[in-house]
Parts: sequence; structure tokens; C-alpha cells
Amino acid sequence: MTDFSTIYKLCLLTVTCCIQACSSSSRCPAVECWLVQDHVSRRGATTQEKSLLHIRTDANSRDAASEQIPSDINPDRVFFITGELRMRLTGPCCRGSSPDIYYAVSGSKCTRWQHPAATLCHQSLSPPTRGSLQKAQCEISPFLHQLSTLKWVAPLTVTGFSPVYLQADWFSAALLGLNKQLVISSIMRAPTATKEPNVILSVSSKTVSVQARLGKPVLLDCGFWVDPSSPLSGSGFAVEWRYQFSGKGRLVLAYDGKTDRVADTQEEGATLDFEGLHQKGNASLILQETKVRHSGTYICIVHLPYLQGQVAVELEIVEPPSLSIHPSPLPLAVPGQTLVVQCEASGFAPLSLELSWEFKGADGKSRPLESASVTGHRQAWDGTYDQSTRLELDTSNLGTGGELTCVAVHPGGTRRASTSLSVIGFGSLSIEDSMAMVGVALVLYGLIKFVSWTFSSSGTDVADKVEKKEK
Ligand SMILES: *[C@@H]1O[C@H](CO)[C@@H](O)[C@H](O)[C@H]1NC(C)=O
Repeated sequence: MTDFSTIYKLCLLTVTCCIQACSSSSRCPAVECWLVQDHVSRRGATTQEKSLLHIRTDANSRDAASEQIPSDINPDRVFFITGELRMRLTGPCCRGSSPDIYYAVSGSKCTRWQHPAATLCHQSLSPPTRGSLQKAQCEISPFLHQLSTLKWVAPLTVTGFSPVYLQADWFSAALLGLNKQLVISSIMRAPTATKEPNVILSVSSKTVSVQARLGKPVLLDCGFWVDPSSPLSGSGFAVEWRYQFSGKGRLVLAYDGKTDRVADTQEEGATLDFEGLHQKGNASLILQETKVRHSGTYICIVHLPYLQGQVAVELEIVEPPSLSIHPSPLPLAVPGQTLVVQCEASGFAPLSLELSWEFKGADGKSRPLESASVTGHRQAWDGTYDQSTRLELDTSNLGTGGELTCVAVHPGGTRRASTSLSVIGFGSLSIEDSMAMVGVALVLYGLIKFVSWTFSSSGTDVADKVEKKEK
């Protein structure tokens, strides 16, 4: 029992921390956005106007300083997001290890929420510091409701609810954080003629651009949050992952959250964390074993009745090559001889490779070698590429040899393969050596002469004897 009260006290303590954390994050910067609208009256012309998205983390406080409107922005184009941004916690609250995760403790059960304001207040969405060219990107546009006929979405709209709820101004905001740290798509509802929308659905990802090695599992992050006070929140959801590559699209996986069933899957080894999906809105896609053909754009779509939000993430499979040198080991060379050496790079993706050669002589310095030709590439059954380089190596200025290295520069990393080269040292003889060589040559010459003379004379002897016998 004492244990329980200690935990309770600890939790109470963290409530204070939590409240402090909430109020400190209320200085959430405004995000500059483009308001993009199609005008039916003007024959579908699209306009782009500067606008501002103010995020109030506390509905009651109107921080005048932070809500100042720059002169180049029409006050009509300023949006104030309020509403369910601050967790209304009845029980003790504990803060999670990550700043945007809160635990609401009710009884002994701990429920985890993703604080929606925390994602919209992410530092990567802050206005740029003076002089920096990079900016977070934000686009707001009117949102149109759709009735989907997809078989995993249609059941969501079967049980009707008051369409009055839909009769309001709906917007969608798409935000991309600095350095692609974060992407958010928010669907907002503003009671007609107010500029104070509430976020109803927010879909976000922290892996906007992912690189993965071949054959490894990969996680494409996607999380969503639904305003619990919205009548749409209890009506179920559906999650759909689609794949797109050079104009072609296909379904990866569709999950019907209403019946808790995978409605369709067209990619082996693709799965979701179903528990996390229902408890925390974790709709991340897990690909169990990456293949080269998995490179492309993945779109995470979260459907609620009559509306959906989506974010796109890029996956690139990057596998550096393995190198081999032929022939291996290299044969001994004599100066002036041209050696043909081949280096093969295999099993790499994407097709972006620079092959070159280096030579390190006795002086220990590396220098690049020219006169190599690179062959065309071949694609293997698993989608990886092979490519090789052929070097015609003139051994005349390489001294007694050294180390020959094949260098492959690839987005997945630089790879090297080396082999040693020996040149038999005729080219670097001293005078004494040459004299000795001449001596040896003379001796050899004498020896050969002597042997051939002995043989030829004995040959005539035999011939003489034969002649004599015939007579
Ligand atoms: C979502 O689920 C995956 C798989 O279980 C996990 O690795 C990831 O950390 C989860 N993301 C969040 C934000 O909890």
C-alpha cells in the first residue's frame, strides 16, 4: 500500500512538471503558409496568398506578442488553431520520455497520447533565423469531403451522424519541417466564418526520407491523431499504404480498423504494429526484408468517415558494391609489359558508381591511374547492378611494383580492393649488376658454344663410321 502511495505522489509531482512543460510550449511559433485556393467563379484559376498559422497551445491565453501579424499578411488570412491542443487530464499525468508523448493515468491504466500541438510546435517548423535560406514549408487549402467507395473505407460512413458537423469550413494543412525532419498533414474544421479551426485529424511522419540496406527490415514512420471530442473519432478508421514509383502506383496494404482486419495486402512481408495502431495511432509500415524494387514513394493515408489525411515518405534502398580484382594474384611483370587487370563491382544499388584505380609505389604515395575503361552495367535477378573496369597497366614506370587498388565510390559508401604488383627489377639495375650480367652472358655463350661443338664433332664421327660400314 505504501508503494502505491509513493507512486501516486511521484505522479502528482510529475503533474506539476507536465503543466510547466505545457505552458512553456505555449510559445509555439507561428508558421508561415501559402493559402492555395481554386476559384470556381474565376474559371478554376488558382490563387496563392501568404497566410499565417498560429498555434495556441492554451485556448484561454491569447499571447498578444506571439500573435502579431506581419504587415504583408492579410488579417483575413491568419488562422488560429485552438481546441484540443492541451491535454485535459482528470487524473494524475506522467510525462513520457519523448517530449510529445504524455501518459494519462486513469486508475491503474496508463493511456498514451500524442500531443497534437507538440508536433505542430516541432522546432523544425520554426521560422528561419535571419540569413538562413531554408524554410519550413506549409500550404493550406480548402478541404473537400469525399465519399470513398474503397471497400475498407466505405463501412466507415454506414452509420450516419449529423451532417451538420460537416457543414463548416474545412481546411487541410500540409507542413514539411526543415531538413525534412517532419511532415504533417492536418485536417481542420472551422465553424463557418470563423478563422479558428480545430485540428480534427493529424497524420505525421518523422521519416520523410529513409535509406535502407538491402535485405534488412525497415520502418516507415506514420502516426495519426484524431480529436477525441469530434463525433468522427468514435466511428472507426482505416489505414492504407500505397506505393508510387515513376508515375505508377499500387496498394501495399489496407487495414480496416473498424473490423480490425487487413482488407488487402499486395506486398509480402509488409505489416503494421496492430496494437500500436489502436493504442497510439501508430500506423508505421514495416517491410520485413527490403528489396531493390522497394525504392520509391510510400503514402500513408488515414481515413475517417468523409475525410482523410495523408503523408508521403521516400524509401531508397542503398547497397554499396563488393569488389573483386582479376587476375588475383597478379602475375609477375617485366618492365615495359602491359598487364590487363579487371575490377568487378557487384551487387550494388542504385546505379550510381564511379570506378577508378590507384597505385601506391615504394615511396608510399598513392596516385591515380588513368587508361581504364568502364564497361556497361548489368542488372541481376535481385535488381542489383554489376559493373567492371578494365585497366591496361603499363609497368614501365612503376619501379619494382607496389599496391594496386580499385576504388568504387557509391552513395552507400566507398569501397576499395587491393592487390600487390611485382615488377622484376631489370629496369633498375646498377652498373655493377650490368657488368655482372654481361659476364654471366659471356660465360653462358662460351658454354653453349662448347656444348654444340662437342655434339657436332661426335655427330661427324658416327657418320664417318656408317659410311665406312657401307663401303
Ligand atoms: C511504431 O511501431 C513500431 C513497430 O512496433 C515501433 O518500432 C515504433 O517505435 C513505433 N513508433 C512510435 C512513435 O511509437
